[in-house]
Amino acid sequence: MTTKHNAPFSSELQSKIDLLKARRRPVQMGSIHFDSPLLLAPMSSIGTAPFRLLMEDLGAGGTVSELISCHGINYKNIRTVDMLKVDPREKNMGLQLFGENAKAMSEAAKVAESFGPKFIDINMGCPVKKVVGTGAGSSLLKDTSTLGNFFGEIKKAIRIPLTIKIRIGWDQDSINAMEVIHIAKEEGVEFVAVHGRTRSQQYTGHANWELLEHLGAKAPLDIIGNGDLHTASFVREKMKTTKCQALMLGRGPLRNPFLFLEAYLHENEEIFFTPEDHFEVMQKLVDYSRDYAHSDHILLISVRKHLIWMAAGYNNVGAFRDLVFKTPDLNETMKIAEDFFSTQKDKRKRLQDHDAFMTSGHG
Ligand SMILES: Cc1cc2nc3c(=O)[nH]c(=O)nc-3n(C[C@H](O)[C@H](O)[C@H](O)COP(=O)(O)O)c2cc1C
Repeated sequence: MTTKHNAPFSSELQSKIDLLKARRRPVQMGSIHFDSPLLLAPMSSIGTAPFRLLMEDLGAGGTVSELISCHGINYKNIRTVDMLKVDPREKNMGLQLFGENAKAMSEAAKVAESFGPKFIDINMGCPVKKVVGTGAGSSLLKDTSTLGNFFGEIKKAIRIPLTIKIRIGWDQDSINAMEVIHIAKEEGVEFVAVHGRTRSQQYTGHANWELLEHLGAKAPLDIIGNGDLHTASFVREKMKTTKCQALMLGRGPLRNPFLFLEAYLHENEEIFFTPEDHFEVMQKLVDYSRDYAHSDHILLISVRKHLIWMAAGYNNVGAFRDLVFKTPDLNETMKIAEDFFSTQKDKRKRLQDHDAFMTSGHG
């Protein structure tokens, strides 16, 4: 292994992190404190404890876990219960549950609460057929008449705050985010994260920021705007102008792990993160992951995925990708990655921001 356990970042990288982190301002969403209004969005198979820890190190004001099945929790499925683990080093994180049944969700929420998150979040945005088919995820947006009871039952079961993450509606003809937020407010939900697409849109088109801004300005609860905030310039622009009380970033930090920090760069400021910085970040992720991975093979699969995302925007990514996927050993893979990042001639990343990127997900 090329990483030392608990090794700190180099002083050069840490000083850039500290400088930009010091510019963040805390935000209160309902009764929940975050270190900045830029939060990591929940992402299945990605938003695990190691990645959440890494993103907090790199400036995320708070994080939300991947979606976790309430039924898996209630059946005590080992893999599901494992997903509930909160690392003692995590500061501001929520566990996200999905399910369609108030009783099952309430029981699972109680179990999830005992793992020590700051809040419990309900997934009401997942567009995936397997989830929607059971009445969970974005399907919950279809029949608002049952939502009050659904929220109320779960809220009663736990002592920590309850939050929800929704899409703007099921389809173009049934955009009902405002109605859902009003129901949530009545039942004591703390804040609402809104992915600015309908379920029918899946990941096509663009997030509807006009509607997100309207919700930020007029909704009776604090709103987290989410969707397509993939570049530092777009995040900076939104931070200046948005009426939302916070913003959530999902896919962007996968390709640019420094997005939460670059959002705080001043205009024309000459600070940038080098390819070597990216490699350090990968080492840190491997380091954090070692405490959680069940096997070397599972760790390798996850590391490969992150390496390829993080390499985006540098030269020779195609050849790097082929090599990474052919290499069966983690140490060797990290050696290849070290060579790749340390030999980049162009020290600045060039991301094609308009490229469609990961056009499926659970919210
Ligand atoms: C791979 C992937 C997995 C996702 N998993 C979840 C999830 O578990 N729960 C959830 O609420 N949203 C999930 N989402 C949706 C994101 O949280 C976010 O709403 C969406 O990606 C739009 O934000 P972005 O453009 O910043 O990525 C997922 C998205 C992706 C791409």
